[in-house]
Amino acid sequence: TVRTAAALVAAASLVAVAGPASAAPGAPGTPRYTDGSTSGGDPYFPAAGNGGYDVQHYDLGLSWYADGRLDGTAVVSLRATQDLASFSLDLRGLTASSVLVDGKPARFTQLPPGPDGRGGELVVTVAPKLKAGTDHRVTVVYSGYPGQPLDNTGAQYGWVTFADGVLVANEAEGAPTWFPVNDVPTDKATYDFRITVPEGKTAIANGEPVGAPVTSGGRTTWTWSADDPMASYLATASIGDYAATTQTGPDGLPILNYVETGLSPSRAATTAASLALQPQMIAFFEGLLGEYPFSSFGAIVDEDSVGYALETQTRPVYSGVAGQTTVAHELAHQWVGNSVSPTTWADIWLNEGFATYLQWRWSESRRAGYLAQQYARVAAIPAGDEFWTVSLTDPGAENLFAEAVYDRGAAFLVALQRTIGDAAFGELLRTWVRDNANGNVTTADLLALAEEVSRQQLDDLFRDWLTEADKPAV
Ligand code: ARG
Ligand code: ZN
Repeated sequence: TVRTAAALVAAASLVAVAGPASAAPGAPGTPRYTDGSTSGGDPYFPAAGNGGYDVQHYDLGLSWYADGRLDGTAVVSLRATQDLASFSLDLRGLTASSVLVDGKPARFTQLPPGPDGRGGELVVTVAPKLKAGTDHRVTVVYSGYPGQPLDNTGAQYGWVTFADGVLVANEAEGAPTWFPVNDVPTDKATYDFRITVPEGKTAIANGEPVGAPVTSGGRTTWTWSADDPMASYLATASIGDYAATTQTGPDGLPILNYVETGLSPSRAATTAASLALQPQMIAFFEGLLGEYPFSSFGAIVDEDSVGYALETQTRPVYSGVAGQTTVAHELAHQWVGNSVSPTTWADIWLNEGFATYLQWRWSESRRAGYLAQQYARVAAIPAGDEFWTVSLTDPGAENLFAEAVYDRGAAFLVALQRTIGDAAFGELLRTWVRDNANGNVTTADLLALAEEVSRQQLDDLFRDWLTEADKPAV
């Protein structure tokens, strides 16, 4: 669409009059059909996510060109959770050219990101309106040049374009840089990907490949299906020059690895040694946490770097090299983070503290004394250090990946284990993962479960370690 000032003003007023998602249909003076909120309600990223519907499935047809262009056709299958006159999807830096609702053209407008660079909405007006509880298919055709999007801290994230391909790492709210999405961790969905790239390039996504790649007219289409529920920050569709290897995990679990062919010999050797341990690592974590939660695992090791690795579901992505502790960390996230996900981004320590603790346990299994050493290292950080100023129950959006979120969180779990004993702590880990599989959790949920399994009052310990922004009694 042509984005005229008038269209933007009209769209902004549409949003401004949007009623709360809770407006009681049929209440006197309340229109039955209201506009879905443009916010998913996250305290740190209010522009992320949307209200009034729940996505079941994303079918993403993506076509990537060597000059960085991305053409997409997304079919979003959703269920209305209120009577809707309009609704929005998160989409940033890409231009929609058509929107169909149940196959019929719909009116739409795009709202640009805010001054902070967050946000970006595709607002769709529906006629006929959508009734609460009904299922719909929303088809969005879009295109653009994602380039190298930056998160709120200035790190590259989302659909990151390099000279030789693309690395995709959405955490926290970078998914709208490549597809229209309800970008909150609570709206999990299944995904299909059809990714068309210049012949010779490989495209890797979550889940498993469907059939062999198909080449025609110098372009190759790679098809992937991810049938386990997945939060949008965990979706990936990385493109590059990958060599594929396979392994078999416990109970025949397929492990599919993709390592870029241009890694230096030393990085290639480090990566190969780490990936070789994956079947053993899965067996180790299954012993602590119960069965691996998804239908496959593996790695994407990109020659290019965004400076970090990400636990993209079933297939973590690594920047330049995959070290052993990083592989253990991203694997642990499949249980804690991916299957059991935070409810809001303020709960990030539930991902990073647990994955770091579990990574320490893996290292402990290779070298006795490691866990106690790590705890002692954190406990030795002086009370005046900035490290202790981050509250883990409200770190702030700028501190999502602060060292304390990882190490203070992990050290807290060691302290909790010492307080309630190995048996109760082991039961806590297994129950946490089993009862919350494919769900979302809060720190309050963890406190309640920890008190239940241990029959101890633990709110002081939780407050001291997690809530207060100073050094706990170590
Ligand atoms: N969740 C990732 C991990 O710990 C880290 C993501 C860091 N993201 C960032 N923008 N710095 O495995
Ligand atoms: Zn992590």
